Amino acid sequence: MNPELIRVNKAYEKHIALIQLNRPKELNALNLQVMGEIRDTLMELDNDPEVRVIIITGNERAFAAGADIKQMAGKGAIDMLKIDQFSTWDQIRKTKKPIIAAVSGFALGGGCELVMTCDMVVAAESAQFGQPEIKIGVMPGAGGTQRLPRAVGKVKAMEMALTGNFISAEEALNWGLINKVVPNESYLSEAVRLAKDIAKQSPIAVQLAKESVLKAYEMPLQEALSFERKNFYMLFATQDQKEGMAAFVEKRKPSFKGE
Ligand code: CAA
Repeated sequence: MNPELIRVNKAYEKHIALIQLNRPKELNALNLQVMGEIRDTLMELDNDPEVRVIIITGNERAFAAGADIKQMAGKGAIDMLKIDQFSTWDQIRKTKKPIIAAVSGFALGGGCELVMTCDMVVAAESAQFGQPEIKIGVMPGAGGTQRLPRAVGKVKAMEMALTGNFISAEEALNWGLINKVVPNESYLSEAVRLAKDIAKQSPIAVQLAKESVLKAYEMPLQEALSFERKNFYMLFATQDQKEGMAAFVEKRKPSFKGE
């Protein structure tokens, strides 16, 4: 693995791993290698019992300015079909542990799509979100026409995808694309704070809750409700359920072990 493209800290804080995109000169443009490394790292972190929450971030100027235009520019349709670079996004979506995007600066095109593949988003006031693919003669190809309308509704998604105009962090918050906007200097620490609130919960319950929320976008309501119910019942097989409910009755804080 090339350590220059992404930086990984498996123990950034207790139970919290950090992935930092590291192509600052290219505004963290997401080339094939970067996406492959993100995918492989997420699979590894998913299998690491010490890790409960994953944060993905960039740098102050850019979370990521999109797929790497220079890498794609000369390709033909069959090259694109064979490389099928956006299938990597499907694997990212399969990560069982929660992923928080900590965004500063540009989150554009594939960068905005990567944000939407994450489960929660904390953004600096400086953050800008957009799907500007239309300005280079194409369209979003990694979820921008699907996840964006589910997040912000049809008309706003249309505006973003058809004009390519960027929206501010404040607009992204009001439109339902992100969880919170914080001062520029604290986007990462706020993401860590959110991650800590999740990391202290039962990791199995967190995993099944994440799985169930995602089904809300993928299944008809009745099936999704049934899926949710089974996940709920399944949690009664865990020690964490016994501990959580006993702690409530005994008026003490629970200590979850992920068992
Ligand atoms: N791919 C490759 N290189 C990129 C890039 C990208 N997506 N975005 C920025 N860069 C490079 C620039 O080419 C430049 O490199 P050089 O110094 O070698 O010229 C460097 O990063 C700095 O960028 P700028 O000089 O352009 O910086 P700026 O502050 O003037 O502008 C910007 C910033 C508005 C983000 C501008 O760089 C920009 O418009 N970038 C492209 C955004 C875009 O169109 N993204 C969508 C890509 S397609 C896609 O993502 C498909 C999909 O659905 C997955």
